[in-house]
Amino acid sequence: MPDNNVEVCILAAGMGTRMRSSRPKVMQSLAGRPLLAHLLDTLEVLKPSRIHVVVGEGSGHIQAAFHNVKNVNWVMQAERLGTGHAVLQAATHFSPTSRVIMLLGDAPLVSIETLTALMQLDCDLGVLTVDLDDPCNYGRILRDAEGNLTAIVEERNATVEQKSIREINTGGMVAKVALLKQWLAGLDNNNDQQEYLLTDIVAIAASAGCVVSAYKTSEVTEVTGINTFEQLALMERALQGRNALKLMEQGVHIVDPSRFDLRGEVVTGKDIVIDINVILEGKVELADGVTIGANCIIKDSRIGENTVIKPNSVIDETIVEADCSVGPFARLRPGTHLKKAVAIGNFVEVKKSTLGEGSKASHLAYLGDSTIGTSVNIGAGTITCNYDGVSKHETHIEDNVFVGSNTSLVAPVTIGEGSTIGAGSTITRDVECHVLAVGRGRQKIISHWQRPAGNRSEK
Ligand code: UD1
Ligand code: CA
Repeated sequence: MPDNNVEVCILAAGMGTRMRSSRPKVMQSLAGRPLLAHLLDTLEVLKPSRIHVVVGEGSGHIQAAFHNVKNVNWVMQAERLGTGHAVLQAATHFSPTSRVIMLLGDAPLVSIETLTALMQLDCDLGVLTVDLDDPCNYGRILRDAEGNLTAIVEERNATVEQKSIREINTGGMVAKVALLKQWLAGLDNNNDQQEYLLTDIVAIAASAGCVVSAYKTSEVTEVTGINTFEQLALMERALQGRNALKLMEQGVHIVDPSRFDLRGEVVTGKDIVIDINVILEGKVELADGVTIGANCIIKDSRIGENTVIKPNSVIDETIVEADCSVGPFARLRPGTHLKKAVAIGNFVEVKKSTLGEGSKASHLAYLGDSTIGTSVNIGAGTITCNYDGVSKHETHIEDNVFVGSNTSLVAPVTIGEGSTIGAGSTITRDVECHVLAVGRGRQKIISHWQRPAGNRSEK
């Protein structure tokens, strides 16, 4: 059930100037997804009644990317006049009886636990803070002798003494809407940056006698803002480290957690080994006993029990059943289904094809738009010629077929059960069951053949 008393306002109109990118900062990718996606995921658990996202000009593709997230009210900030101005654009949409959580779109990892703790502060205005060893470039938290918050001062407006304060503003705040509107009305841009700074509401609220509190978290990574690609890369490693740790706690043997990347979700069984530089994308399932070699990329796929994926394989939208062996250097493209105990070797590409139990394609082959039965052997260099320049055609290879090396199977074509195809054949017509089909020029012998005479070096 949505919490009718809570609304969220995400500030996402910034252009990420410090990244020198033409892409809005919230669309930069963290663990394979836009920054904003991480925040919206967390908010799905919190269930606020409404999520206002403040975006700038040219934000059409942000809205398009998130068109199916419910509850979002896109608010346009035509001119970027500061974080206070950004909240002001959304404020007309806030219900007067709500509390509103303000979040920065460039601090995407704030957790549900931290947001809940912030919301539990009994106050008019709550600020999420953290102590940093290097507080440089963040807004500093000013407190009076009793420890009460009195103001936030931005780095560029701070005195040398204020710059030594290690407690910083993470940007997360919670406020009662009626009061927030009054404080926002009191903002001005008489500062060095000539911006309406949201942070100034702290001093306004405190001097009006409102209760201003802080929730100081110790989760530094969670609340750190991303302004530069360097900070984005640090955040990526921190997040990936967390992903790897979670999987290791579930019993997955990740050989080097600093060289593992999860860009989506993975469901894992027991006794799984993941070697270095593996990337898992989208929705991946790894059953018990799966081994993944170095440098593999597996996306939106299911890998069955005790299957071994050898190094440098790329697997996309594929089902690999139990006891298979794939790679090294295999490419399984969308629509591939390998049944039990299939072996796919090096430089084999499979697309939209099913291989039956125990079948093998051990070297250098292309299998596209095909159905292959059980215990079939595909020789090295075999190609399904599935494309005639206009349409794709299917190849059917029935059980127990032996396809000799360097065969071209010109689709549409069916090879009947138990048949053998001689090496080097070009097969253009269906082959019945239990026969030998050979489609190649016969070998000729020319006796006493003389190679052209002459001195090679004179050419
Ligand atoms: C801000 C805070 C600072 C805090 C830091 C934490 C202010 C004035 N400063 O600084 O105290 O320590 O975050 O990371 O709030 N945005 C808009 N419209 C605007 C300007 C900004 O939507 O007109 C959005 C940006 O897209 C961004 C967020 O607000 O997501 C923060 O803006 P940014 O310029 O990154 O502020 P910081 O300098 O990091
Ligand atoms: Ca920032």
